[in-house]
Amino acid sequence: MEKLVGKKKIFTAVFISGRGTNLKSIYRYSRKKKSKIDLKLVICNKSNARGVIFAKKNKIKTHIISFKNEIVAEKQIIKYLDKYNIKLICLAGFMKILGKNLIKKFKNKIINIHPSLLPKYKGLNTHSRAIKNKEKFSGCTVHFVNEKLDSGRIILQKKVRLFKSDTPISLSKRILKVENKLYPKAISKILPKI
Ligand code: GRF
Repeated sequence: MEKLVGKKKIFTAVFISGRGTNLKSIYRYSRKKKSKIDLKLVICNKSNARGVIFAKKNKIKTHIISFKNEIVAEKQIIKYLDKYNIKLICLAGFMKILGKNLIKKFKNKIINIHPSLLPKYKGLNTHSRAIKNKEKFSGCTVHFVNEKLDSGRIILQKKVRLFKSDTPISLSKRILKVENKLYPKAISKILPKI
């Protein structure tokens, strides 16, 4: 794949499954004058996801992909990525595993945000595990996506203090605010290097 950065903006897709606060923050970032990305496409596996409403309101092309058959889903996704000439994929709360072909085709062009200080607490239920283990800090990480879950090269990470009174809900809310700021920073960081 050719170098991402030139005079033109980098056509970007965001993959979501739900609420879409990180989608919103990436969208806002893309609308800034100096931003080098153009958010062209949202892919979602759930038609009723809140993020889909936001995407449609803001006239971002949005496609709902059924994952009943994962091979078909991957083909459809690749078709849309090609159609919109997408060069960067941002996973933002996307709850499906990407197919191998897609990961290969977009090597070092797919990034994800995870609500823990990776490599700690890969996978689900990160907040309750961090609380259970009496961690002093948790946080969030933006990383490249490879074939292994939450294991690609780390781009940026931000610590968040954990309080004794924290519940998974209170901690997730505090971390989410940090996530929303971290994601655009991570995108800015990788653009010149890809
Ligand atoms: C975030 O906590 C993200 O780290 C995780 O899923 C959540 C998505 O939140 N992967 P949102 O849909 O962006 O609000």
